[in-house]
Amino acid sequence: MGRTGPMLTRRALLAAMGARGLVLGPGLVAAERHAFAAGGSILTRKISATGERIPVIGMGSWITFNVGDDIPLRDQRVKVLQAFFDRGGGLIDSSPMYGSSEEVIGYCLKRITNKNALFSATKVWTLSRWLGVRQMNDSFKLWGVNQFDLMQIHNLVDWETHLETLKEWRAQGRVRYIGITTSHGSRHEELAHVMASQPIDFVQFTYNVLDREAERRLLPLAAERGLAVIINRPFRRGALFDRFEGHPLPAWAGEFDCANWAQFFLKFIVSHPAVTCAIPATSRVDHMLENMGAAYGRLPDAHLRKRMTRYVDSL
Ligand SMILES: NC(=O)c1ccc[n+]([C@@H]2O[C@H](COP(=O)([O-])OP(=O)(O)OC[C@H]3O[C@@H](n4cnc5c(N)ncnc54)[C@H](OP(=O)(O)O)[C@@H]3O)[C@@H](O)[C@H]2O)c1
Repeated sequence: MGRTGPMLTRRALLAAMGARGLVLGPGLVAAERHAFAAGGSILTRKISATGERIPVIGMGSWITFNVGDDIPLRDQRVKVLQAFFDRGGGLIDSSPMYGSSEEVIGYCLKRITNKNALFSATKVWTLSRWLGVRQMNDSFKLWGVNQFDLMQIHNLVDWETHLETLKEWRAQGRVRYIGITTSHGSRHEELAHVMASQPIDFVQFTYNVLDREAERRLLPLAAERGLAVIINRPFRRGALFDRFEGHPLPAWAGEFDCANWAQFFLKFIVSHPAVTCAIPATSRVDHMLENMGAAYGRLPDAHLRKRMTRYVDSL
């Protein structure tokens, strides 16, 4: 891909949104104002394996894109994905574990025009080489792509077997990068072993302002090994909003161009030097626009990051 983030002016953004019929609430306008006041260039991070850059905010699809063959719901997800690309997004994360999500992503991609920045990331989640190959072949068809940018081994399932297949596929160009995933703190020992010993490019695990276990071992190890890091469950599946939304954002959140809690949570994650991107999932256009706002403006420095954890820990 080898691209840097697109430059968007606020006027261009609003024109694009207007053209797509998106509605901006008053809070959102404020959020956009904050982001653009600090400069219009999307924040990107480098994938060490190649030097390619990707935006610091991607998109998850667990539950949110599992809408089956309900056409009104599918068409609403087209708008969500359109908003993602309009705001400079690229990486979409899915898995055969997520019900109809891959098929719905394929449906949406067919209906979106400005998707050149797509960075397709899915997973293999089954036992045995034969079933793995069959499942991954299905994913190509469901997404409607000839190549995956990233194929990840989901939750370390039969990882030794799939890694062999994926090394061959990477050499043939069927996939560009290989990754491995886990979530909410499970099997960190085994994940660390794979990270330290295997020729992978990406790793995906959970990290957020409350779940900070990854700071101890996985994030430093990823940095040491030059692995790109995708962060899942950035909102603890939405629970962070339930917990903190009734509390005020601290005034100093403005120091890193943060206008709402979503951006507070996401900017905390992507300001860690070892993180490549976070992949919040949403079924809503207004939430997508809030989330993508975290990919613009200033990020908190080490001092502000400490202040953020002290603040949430005190609430
Ligand atoms: N082992 C693995 O490989 C693994 C494990 C877990 C997750 N993942 C990946 O990581 C992605 C993200 O994790 P997740 O889906 O578990 O949880 P998450 O992204 O932490 O939270 C998603 C929830 O947050 C809500 N939300 C999103 N933006 C919001 C906003 N701006 N304001 C208020 N609420 C908002 C969504 O509701 P609305 O729809 O109402 O916005 C949704 O209920 C997954 O979708 C998946 O792609 C991978």
